[in-house]
Amino acid sequence: MANPRSLFFVSLLFLFINSGVSAVVTYNVADLGAKPDGQTDSTKAFLSAWSEACASANPSVIYVPAGRFLLRNVAFSGPCKNTAITVRIAGTLVAPTDYRVIGNAGNWLLFEHVNGVTISGGILDGQGTGLWNCKASGNSCPSGATTLGFSNSNNIIVSGVSSLNSQMFHIVINGCNNVKMQGVRVSASGRSPNTDGIHVQKSSGVTILDSKIATGDDCVSIGPGTTNLWIENIACGPGHGISIGSLGKDQQEEGVQNVTVRTATFTGTQNGVRIKSWGRPSTGFAKNILFQHAVMIDVQNPIVIDQNYCPGEKDCPGQVSGVRISDVTYQDIHGTSATEVAVKFDCSSKYPCSNITLDDVKLSYKNQAAEASCSHAGGTAEGTVQPTSCL
Ligand SMILES: *[C@@H]1O[C@H](CO)[C@@H](O)[C@H](O)[C@H]1NC(C)=O
Ligand SMILES: *[C@@H]1O[C@H](CO)[C@@H](O)[C@H](O)[C@H]1NC(C)=O
Repeated sequence: MANPRSLFFVSLLFLFINSGVSAVVTYNVADLGAKPDGQTDSTKAFLSAWSEACASANPSVIYVPAGRFLLRNVAFSGPCKNTAITVRIAGTLVAPTDYRVIGNAGNWLLFEHVNGVTISGGILDGQGTGLWNCKASGNSCPSGATTLGFSNSNNIIVSGVSSLNSQMFHIVINGCNNVKMQGVRVSASGRSPNTDGIHVQKSSGVTILDSKIATGDDCVSIGPGTTNLWIENIACGPGHGISIGSLGKDQQEEGVQNVTVRTATFTGTQNGVRIKSWGRPSTGFAKNILFQHAVMIDVQNPIVIDQNYCPGEKDCPGQVSGVRISDVTYQDIHGTSATEVAVKFDCSSKYPCSNITLDDVKLSYKNQAAEASCSHAGGTAEGTVQPTSCL
């Protein structure tokens, strides 16, 4: 076989002549020692591809061919000279079978302090079942790793990526600006613990489109400090729905603002669209939220605001939520509830929810009208609203 470096320069020259603009450089991890056998640790090869791409000023592709590539927890760190790195995955990245290897690492695959990174295609197999079983057994277990994390990064695209059986959260966007996710697939057991599909926090300008999420916790969870989030065309289930929160865990907390969830189908989920806050003091808030065009199929709590979240009744009993919730619109939400109460607004007695709008909402329970329940919630109902609004 020709020496990879000479091949590399030939392909570089070829691309350069053909494009006439800037040459795209491709780093194939297999040329750098990665093995598609699912057993050989390929972490080093991926890291060398990353450091070459990161140091280059040319648009670069890190190419992962077909096959299964075993990776330990790895951080792809910037800042980079490069602002156009595409990781193109034809095959599967596999986490170690022994969950302890990455279980305390926080993240399995982490991108941090990068600008202009695209992840395209591929399957990320977190091999989480061992850890879920450990947690179910009641033994002490590592908390588990997020499969794919982006931290303090800008201009990120995640397209056509499948995440399978993450130990903990599947994808986490933290401290980022301008992130576009499209055609993402998340798949894990409906009984897997804390395996949220996509979690966004402290980030602005995140878009999640055309994605299908089946997991054991929230399909999408939205944490403090999220602004200008757009979610459209999502299939969720099994899972806990699309959730803003939990908010108000901390006393000093950034708010959530300008979130749109449009065209979503929830099938057999615990919740549909939810806003949830701890029942304790906080500076947090959620405002300018639009839930539009949702179909609920046998969902336990299709529309819910819960401001009395207090797991284990620890650190909050007797306290009320400081989180202020306002300007929330539910528009064109139809389908079936798996419980009698299809609409539930359980707001803070100190800071009642304000300006909640129900517009064209029709939810039934066992072919009858369902019920709505309100506590400290104000707003208006427009169009057909069933169950009858309690605002
Ligand atoms: C709200 O967020 C969307 C993106 O989701 C953005 O296009 C729009 O400009 C934002 N609105 C405001 C008032 O910032
Ligand atoms: C109520 O909420 C809607 C939608 O977010 C907003 O356009 C409107 O200005 C709000 N009204 C008041 C009185 O705050």
